[in-house]
Amino acid sequence: MSEATMEQMGELNTLTMRQAQRTFRLVRQTLLNRGLYQPRKDGTIREVEWLGWAPWFDERAYVFVLDTARLPVSIEKLTDERVLHQVSTTLGGRRVQITNHRGIAWVVAMDLPPLKEPQARRTLPNQVSLDLSTVPEGAFMLPLGVGFDGPVWRPLGELDCILVGGVRGFGKTTFLFSLLVSLLVRHGPGELQMAIVDPKGFDFVLFDGIPHLWAERATDADAAAALLADLVAEMEDRGEQFARLGVRSLDAFNAVAPEPLPLLLVVVDEVTDLMLEAGRQAAALQRKLIRLVSKGRAAGIVLVVATQNPKSDVFDTLARGNFRTRIAFPVPEPNMSKTILGRTGAEQLADVPGRMLALVEGQSREPVELQGYYLDDEAVKAVTAGLAEREYSPLTGLERDLVIQAVEELDGAFNIDRLAGRFEGRISRNRLKRLARAWERRGWLTPAQVGVSRQVTEVLRALSTTGDAPRG
Ligand SMILES: Nc1ncnc2c1ncn2[C@@H]1O[C@H](COP(=O)(O)OP(=O)(O)OP(=O)(O)O)[C@@H](O)[C@H]1O
Ligand SMILES: [Mg+2]
Repeated sequence: MSEATMEQMGELNTLTMRQAQRTFRLVRQTLLNRGLYQPRKDGTIREVEWLGWAPWFDERAYVFVLDTARLPVSIEKLTDERVLHQVSTTLGGRRVQITNHRGIAWVVAMDLPPLKEPQARRTLPNQVSLDLSTVPEGAFMLPLGVGFDGPVWRPLGELDCILVGGVRGFGKTTFLFSLLVSLLVRHGPGELQMAIVDPKGFDFVLFDGIPHLWAERATDADAAAALLADLVAEMEDRGEQFARLGVRSLDAFNAVAPEPLPLLLVVVDEVTDLMLEAGRQAAALQRKLIRLVSKGRAAGIVLVVATQNPKSDVFDTLARGNFRTRIAFPVPEPNMSKTILGRTGAEQLADVPGRMLALVEGQSREPVELQGYYLDDEAVKAVTAGLAEREYSPLTGLERDLVIQAVEELDGAFNIDRLAGRFEGRISRNRLKRLARAWERRGWLTPAQVGVSRQVTEVLRALSTTGDAPRG
């Protein structure tokens, strides 16, 4: 019984038809997920054979009949409590029975929600491209997408940490790109820095080389662990600096501090893959992420975290609380929608890449449906390549002073102890250590050796005087 043949059966009204089809789709998918099929040699599968279905109007119930004489797995598997439970959960906790009798089984789904004539639905466009000349003025404006009432832009300060979920290929990474490039066209590296965790290893390669990178893009679990540790340390450092000036936010700090700090946006794509890859380190990674998500905001550190697999336990713990903004791309099951948004709904989105439900805590009770902006690689490149060429000094005033001090007073030795002494009150030892490690990774300092300080290289020396690296 395919969905096509279901369409031809009986004289049922379209509403009943639609509900039955939807229910059938969910029941069938759940049975497949529970392994009720047999793989064939050619890679296709032999699944349970469906014979038909019938509605029970007054009870808002449907029965789906299947042939168990030709079941590809043992009958016990089908009548297993856990299968039953899973089908029920997938249907949003409805009552479900599975009965087997003489080679025929019935799956009965009961108490389905009342049938409602769908309102004449307005539809969203299936593709909208991001016109960067329309990025609104204002601090850190982010595009969520186009809704029924037009484009939706929100300041990052309002959105706070963002959680993005959805199954493979519906536009999560593209959505992250739209956020990044919108920020990049408006904010220089003095105001905004980014850290990117890209476990696939190549998705964010176009952002390499922009002057806004706080650290090198992390592409594996070890690099991600190191980066997150640095970020936690940065958060604590900032906390101390804020406390010293008696302020509690980045804006307040920058209003009075002699050296303003940039907003730090941390993008973590495919967080579940990352956790899986991290193996035994996963718990530690997760703790760092949770700390950053829950406490980073006050220090001007904001996270955007995406996953393709919102079903995993790891993700569930991370997702609970903490994220003020949640974005769900289409998912197959109501439960996945629940993990991401805290409610069902994303399973009913049209299967269109870029289609999403967005929920901003404290803004609206119900999620809004949007079509996310589409950008191809060329559009991203147009922004990032231009930035790499623009003459930004990659060093802050303080960093420049540090290099000059090391060159002029310490014979080019980037000696942490001596610099920490001379810059007391302006930069902490920990921050200096991290800076040294980051510069070493970029090849700006020679590698550390036991008992010997890192040396300032020609590149860094040039950057500190002219703001430009030597060519060739
Ligand atoms: N907003 C959009 N509008 C139209 N098409 C889109 C949009 N976003 C993504 N797509 C299409 O979907 C494809 C997959 O997008 P993307 O890589 O962003 O998805 P993803 O969810 O990150 O996938 P994966 O889970 O595999 O990482 C894109 O190559 C593009 O063709
Ligand atoms: Mg992706």
